[in-house]
Amino acid sequence: METLVFEQELKERTRLAEEVLKKYLPAEGGPQGRLTEAMNYSLLAGGKRLRPVLMRETYEMCGGQEEDPALEAFMAAIEMIHTYSLVHDDLPAMDNDCYRRGKKTTWYVYGDAMGILAGDGLLNYAFETAAGALTRCCQEEGIPEGERIAGLKRISEALSVLARKAGIYGMIGGQAVDIMDSENQSAGAENGNQAPEDKGGEPQELERLLFIHEHKTAALIQAAMMIGAILAGAAPQKVREIEKCAYNIGIAFQIQDDVLDVVGNSQELGKSIGSDAQNNKRTYVALMGLDRAKADVEALSQEAVDILDGFQGRHEFLKQLILALIHRTH
Ligand code: IPE
Ligand code: IPE
Ligand code: MG
Ligand code: MG
Ligand code: MG
Repeated sequence: METLVFEQELKERTRLAEEVLKKYLPAEGGPQGRLTEAMNYSLLAGGKRLRPVLMRETYEMCGGQEEDPALEAFMAAIEMIHTYSLVHDDLPAMDNDCYRRGKKTTWYVYGDAMGILAGDGLLNYAFETAAGALTRCCQEEGIPEGERIAGLKRISEALSVLARKAGIYGMIGGQAVDIMDSENQSAGAENGNQAPEDKGGEPQELERLLFIHEHKTAALIQAAMMIGAILAGAAPQKVREIEKCAYNIGIAFQIQDDVLDVVGNSQELGKSIGSDAQNNKRTYVALMGLDRAKADVEALSQEAVDILDGFQGRHEFLKQLILALIHRTH
């Protein structure tokens, strides 16, 4: 696929993901109107919409039908969960960041308390939205019972993947270890102790960092792609292959995020750079160096593409997307 064609396709698919999200936005107004306004502020601030795009592409690669209301509900839900993770990640008690997606962060505009509640609201609303797919499937008229049961099974499996990958054994777990480590590093630095990063890439340091990257970032990318596969009716073995592929994409994505925090352009990124150093974060760049980080992004992404090549369904765009992410600047 030529670069220009790929870029147009990406724009179109991002637009489609955004359109889907807009169908599911919470209504504003009422006594809690400021809450839903804050939720919509963060949802509509922009962003690459990578997770819903990956979900739909995986769904199509695995042979899913074009119009699937369940797929759309899950596309919106994953973007809500991702956005909530960012809203909370930016809070003063966490990374204390003021810019995100080229705008002031949610807490910076609405205050800490409303920032916390907007995140809570997005997380809960994501599950309300995804659970709506179960209700719709139960109520759908004129479909054979066997088909309905198969649909319900797929949706409930997708729900459980979403819950697990976003939860304490997924994204929240990764964020917790990220925070514990940066607090330890900060305390160590204050006491004049040698920071663990000075030990330079010891195996257990790398293992710990990979735990963080896998859980805080790869888990939601895995959820996105696995749900696409599950809703398309892929066999369990295929879903496991997608999980491994998305692990690689997710780790590469977070390493590149660490790289961009050092060498990126804040205007282009839409968020402040240097945040990791300021917060004493243990990053891939700090541990392994910039050159190794860049090389690993490339190798992990190539491995992800190799896994996809084992799939029969069309995945040319997906492949190009994974390769384009290697050199992303935002
Ligand atoms: C940022 O995710 C947080 C990480 C997991 C690194 P994205 O880079 O996908 O953020 P948006 O959605 O495009 O703003
Ligand atoms: C956060 O990682 C990943 C999340 C689960 C939100 P970072 O803290 O590095 O993400 P950015 O750089 O603020 O987007
Ligand atoms: Mg963080
Ligand atoms: Mg952050
Ligand atoms: Mg970062």
